[in-house]
Amino acid sequence: MKFNASAKAFANVALVKYFGKRDRVLNLPDASSLSLTLEPLQTVTKIVFDESYKSDKVLFNGDVVEGSAATRISSFLDIARNLKGITLKANVDTTNSFPTAAGLASSASGFAALARAVDYALDLKLDDTALSAYARRGSGSASRSVFGGFVKWQRGEKDDGSDSHGICIKKPSWWDLRMIVGVADSGQKSMGSTGAMNLTKETSPYYKSWIKSAQSHVNEAVEAIEKKDFQKLGEITENSALLMHGAIMGSNPGIMFLKGTTIDAYHLTVEMRKKGLGAYFTCDAGPQPKILCTVEDAVKIERELSMLKGIKKVINCKIGDGAQVIKPYGTSIEDKCSTLQ
Ligand code: DP6
Repeated sequence: MKFNASAKAFANVALVKYFGKRDRVLNLPDASSLSLTLEPLQTVTKIVFDESYKSDKVLFNGDVVEGSAATRISSFLDIARNLKGITLKANVDTTNSFPTAAGLASSASGFAALARAVDYALDLKLDDTALSAYARRGSGSASRSVFGGFVKWQRGEKDDGSDSHGICIKKPSWWDLRMIVGVADSGQKSMGSTGAMNLTKETSPYYKSWIKSAQSHVNEAVEAIEKKDFQKLGEITENSALLMHGAIMGSNPGIMFLKGTTIDAYHLTVEMRKKGLGAYFTCDAGPQPKILCTVEDAVKIERELSMLKGIKKVINCKIGDGAQVIKPYGTSIEDKCSTLQ
């Protein structure tokens, strides 16, 4: 028996950040969050389940993945295998088009693409909501990359996490916003987001107020998107990032993701705003500065950021679609049905 599929997904950058879990096993957040799915930050993943395989094997950008990263993927596959009632091992071959694990949301596109590929290969027939909840088990932010456009990941109330998934608020065509991503350091970050958010929750005196702000920011951001109120959305975006980093820095021992170049990019953003450009800063669990802007100002802002000392590369991102199966490499449903019989 052999089932295979390929899928692609874009990364996302949160305007209202997710940073803290109410359940670490199920990846359930303490607050809702909201993001833009971003093209061209893309992961492409191919999966093959085959009875001849003795164990799961994962390739990332051509290199074999081992240790805890490999275990994380096997555990994720186990969820689907249990659902399907099979024990077949898999080969996973995944490629990223952008710097990984440096605050560029690679786990989001990675697990969204993998979830989509697994669903197709095993013919699980999960709808997008269920697929998003499945992707969430791999990485919380992946629940948002299943969808394109403006995406809310709702916190949910249930203990089993079935109501904690992404929701597409608006499709990409709703509003042509841009995210200018600066690559300040494409190396691995000192601490992963999972460890950092757990330590922040356990030790930062600012954690509770951070979570409270996120919950109300999400509601305000949805309203700003519906009204296309760019200034309001931008102010929420910048405030959410700074509040998150404030809470992170307040951890014990302290965590500092921002580097000198990141801070310089923040000041540059404020300066550009004073000159009349619509630019708002954000940054995730890494040093990469990101600037939310309108399409009209995007080229100017891209040029300004690329001239900043310490910036190695700038990626002008537009709002992209959700995770999709790549047809030519996937087994068709008909093929799979005949294999299953
Ligand atoms: C700072 O989704 O990578 O980018 O659920 O533990 O895998 P896990 O964390 P992850 O965290 C992302 C944190 C963030 C903010 C965000 O994307 O909302």
